[in-house]
Amino acid sequence: MKNLLDGIEEILLMGPGPSHVPPEIYDAMTRKTLGYLDPYFIEIMDDIQILLRKLLNTKNTVTFPVSGTGSSGMETCFVNLIEPKDSVLILVNGVFGKRMIEVASRLRAHVTPIEFEWGTPILEEKVETEIFKQDYKIVAAVHAETSTGVKNPIENIAKIVKNTNSLFLVDCVTSLGGIQVNVDDWGLDAVYSGSQKCLSCPPGLAPVTFSEEAFSTVLNRNQKVPNFYLDVSLISEYWSGEKKRTYHHTAPSNMLYAFYQALQLIFNEGIENVFKRHNDSHKELVKRLEEMDLQLIVEKPYRLPMLNAVRIPDNVDDVKTRQFLRDNYKIEIGGGLGTLAGKIWRIGLMGSTARLENVERLSRALIQILKNK
Ligand SMILES: Cc1ncc(COP(=O)(O)O)c(C=O)c1O
Repeated sequence: MKNLLDGIEEILLMGPGPSHVPPEIYDAMTRKTLGYLDPYFIEIMDDIQILLRKLLNTKNTVTFPVSGTGSSGMETCFVNLIEPKDSVLILVNGVFGKRMIEVASRLRAHVTPIEFEWGTPILEEKVETEIFKQDYKIVAAVHAETSTGVKNPIENIAKIVKNTNSLFLVDCVTSLGGIQVNVDDWGLDAVYSGSQKCLSCPPGLAPVTFSEEAFSTVLNRNQKVPNFYLDVSLISEYWSGEKKRTYHHTAPSNMLYAFYQALQLIFNEGIENVFKRHNDSHKELVKRLEEMDLQLIVEKPYRLPMLNAVRIPDNVDDVKTRQFLRDNYKIEIGGGLGTLAGKIWRIGLMGSTARLENVERLSRALIQILKNK
């Protein structure tokens, strides 16, 4: 029987994730699978926690990768913190803010959304006027809105949230590993991310961290966390080095090797160098796009380096162009989501993809394709 795996091609992943996976990470995944309580595996888990805390700039004990993609990180944060009828304020300027509303509503929270125009950032002044109207248990926002390429001013919003009794829950799926995420200094209470963006792993893990206050909120719930698999108090008993480790679910060991290797690569390169590589690639991409008369939809101060949302010219077919790029140049870029579908391309410079040679390769391809329009 034909094995379809033999037909997988090398596609340069320049979309909204997954990003390019370096050979060291594929290599890590082929190491021998160990049992979930094997002492050597536990040593690897301990090191993962140390490195992850360093990347998140936190001392939070409750810091580990959840088994699942970025959305499982989102579910984990909300399902552990929300009890029915809790008030939740969600700041929305794209698809992933909207997904937060969906997740929180399913948990029967009373959700108040504040919406901002897509392609523009969350406005602190608006948050400041709304936030004191009610006592919200949670305020939630997305740091890097992958659907629009906007960087939200999380540090400044955190200062506002600090003047309330609310916990601040932040999506760092696309930001972590590409720009600063300072969990402790900024005062973030529950943060999640994903393995397949700036960490350059395949999809499958969602790092999360809970502040002491957030974790004690979980421990003092009136009702059990309604989801066994994502209950951080139970998962913590497996990840914590202090007590005897308790089986919760079978750890995806080879994915965790990949994740460990990704963290190693980041710190071997040096975190500041990693951020600079993202920024330099972004600047070069913007320059090349402007030379082609292509415009970014986000104003300069709010642009993400790792996700560049480009307006598609009127005479250009979105889907056909991306398909052509994929088939003939072996490069993937993303299309728009939600209201921006068909209107923008999303060019990712995430993790190992963020390199000048990749910008060069994509620019050359786009010049040729657009010339023939
Ligand atoms: C900002 C943001 N949040 C959440 C998610 C959901 O992550 P996943 O698709 O890995 O479940 C994504 C995925 O693109 C994202 O970009």
